[in-house]
Amino acid sequence: MTGGAGYIGSHSVLALMEAGYDPIVLDDFSNSSKESISGIKKIYGAGPVVIEGDTGNSSLLMDIFSSYDVNSVLHFSGLKSVEESMADPLRYYSENVGSSLSLLRTMQEANIQTIIFSSSATVYDPESQVPYTENSPTNPINPYGHTKLCVEQILHGLASSNPEWKVGILRYFNPVGAHPSGHIGEDPKQKPNNLMPLVMQTAVGRMEKLLIYGDDYDTPDGTCIRDYIHVLDLARGHLSALTYLERHQGLHIWNLGTGKGTSVQELIDKAREVTGAVINTEITFRRLGDSPEAVADPKKAKSELSWHPEYSIGNMCADHWNWQRQNPDGYQ
Ligand code: UD1
Repeated sequence: MTGGAGYIGSHSVLALMEAGYDPIVLDDFSNSSKESISGIKKIYGAGPVVIEGDTGNSSLLMDIFSSYDVNSVLHFSGLKSVEESMADPLRYYSENVGSSLSLLRTMQEANIQTIIFSSSATVYDPESQVPYTENSPTNPINPYGHTKLCVEQILHGLASSNPEWKVGILRYFNPVGAHPSGHIGEDPKQKPNNLMPLVMQTAVGRMEKLLIYGDDYDTPDGTCIRDYIHVLDLARGHLSALTYLERHQGLHIWNLGTGKGTSVQELIDKAREVTGAVINTEITFRRLGDSPEAVADPKKAKSELSWHPEYSIGNMCADHWNWQRQNPDGYQ
């Protein structure tokens, strides 16, 4: 599991361990913390094998593949800030595409042909009609999104070249929440840009007020609508995809979202209700590149993977809040 110590990685490692797998985590800890592994141990009673290093380091990968009996790779590692990707696109192409290429090349050499790739709803054309199905047109509008689509296309090429490959592409919508124990959660090393961490940091008093990027969209309350999904549901999605790939070859794409849209205002109202905290807000200009609405059609994952998101927006806020309150400075 590359990037297995990160936010989505750590929750997925736990889900896999609970299902009886023996995951090996490869992480360089550049945007994650070793404490997430301690968190997994606290919850599960044992932790995964952890190897510190880069996904792009092919000799390290080959060592891992020769030392352990690896059947599949879940590829979470990568950079994920849209803003940063616009300021330094080459770094994004090199880290996200370059590292994926060397991972795939090494997998091929080691004859490991099952991979699950963390893609994003950001690959869809923001002008497409919602809800997005896996066949909706793609057209990412920033380098981060391009790198995700680029890796998807590389995987397409690979799967067409050799029918033995088993490839699962998971397009995440907006992952939020944390394990209800509060032992693992989201801890961005830089200032977060995403709504839920900012809402919770305002609730806990780390930020004075939350900026709402526009209330003049063509939506019922004027604020943007997104499909928030609990990280535990997302983690279970990886398990379901892995089980599916045990029985199916070829390339498969699945949206992981709930199919339910929540507006920025609705999320803030729910967070106020759940936390009981004061969350000051101020309306400001629209953020460049935001689309009014991005919601998944999750039918394909539901029918093929028998995967059903279980958590409501109230659960997502409660668990994110619990993590934030227990760890106001993250893992530090
Ligand atoms: C963003 C990224 C997307 C990435 C995803 C990861 C952009 C344009 N898109 O998606 O590529 O895959 O995060 O989760 O950055 N909002 C506020 N105030 C804030 C922060 C956000 O009003 O301080 C609003 C935004 O305008 C948006 C909604 O909250 O309407 C959700 O924003 P965010 O959490 O950043 O997610 P996305 O924009 O959907």
